[in-house]
Amino acid sequence: MKKNITDFKNAKKSGEKITWITAYDYPMSQAAEKAGIDMILVGDSGTMVQLGYKTTNPATMDEMILLAQSVRRGAPNTFIVGDMPQGSYEVSNEDAIINALKFVKLAGCDAVKLEGGARMSDRIKAINNAGILVIGHLGLTPQSAASFGGYRVQCKNKKNFEDTMLDSIALEKAGACILLLEALPEDSAEQIAKKLEIPVYGIGAGIKVDGQLIIMHDLTGFYSDFRPWFAKCYVPEVVEEFVKELSNFKTEESLKEFGRKNKTDGVARIVELSISKYIKDVKEVKFPSTLYTYPIKPEELADLKTSLLWKKSV
Ligand code: KIV
Repeated sequence: MKKNITDFKNAKKSGEKITWITAYDYPMSQAAEKAGIDMILVGDSGTMVQLGYKTTNPATMDEMILLAQSVRRGAPNTFIVGDMPQGSYEVSNEDAIINALKFVKLAGCDAVKLEGGARMSDRIKAINNAGILVIGHLGLTPQSAASFGGYRVQCKNKKNFEDTMLDSIALEKAGACILLLEALPEDSAEQIAKKLEIPVYGIGAGIKVDGQLIIMHDLTGFYSDFRPWFAKCYVPEVVEEFVKELSNFKTEESLKEFGRKNKTDGVARIVELSISKYIKDVKEVKFPSTLYTYPIKPEELADLKTSLLWKKSV
């Protein structure tokens, strides 16, 4: 059954971890829904991994709507978030509302996501007032990565941690329904997740948040230009299971027959198995392990803990 924001809020209370993955087209979102994912993000990362841009900055609303429409067709029963591309919300509240409405009306999205801290409070209020759920995105925000020196781990020093904590509180106050944190040491992310009442999910933010997001092309190893340090490709873990499923078919004819009937003899099945394993790992609080979590030096952590915003009891 399709989950909604109440389910996500209840999951935070009960301690159940939420699973979230990006998808940008029909077959990927079909595989995600079939595997039982809780949420899908039609990220502007899709314009890199699918369309070949070098950054997310050139992404346009038209491109994002096309991707989102195909994702909705593939996953009719999943909570889908449309990622607002750079330039679609910064200039005015009116722009933000018009473009958020496009995700809902043209692509059937359940929510939108935008990047930025307290400076985005007015936009979040405006979109909320139009009756649309908004998700905030802090930490490493790719659309403005150039302004903080490129793709770098965030919240490793006290000033950056305090700014991010205050931004998180501002976004919650403005009406964000969920917060996504990207590329943070897990202790910093935990502080924010514990401080906010809304669910706080992470990508590269450690295991101590309320849910995880992963990029489809990292999970499937389907993008060879770049892979973030915190990303895990799940294909090596499921290949054996895939081969086992097909090993009973001794003749090409019987395999062909099986493939035509079940359509689980190819890439779509490997993707589905990989997503299923990711879901299992997140629900069992096994992903991300320390191998996929940013380390922090003891002296850096000790400095963070001197912040007045660092809660002693966490
Ligand atoms: O576009 C996207 O996929 C994102 C994630 C990197 C968080 O915004």
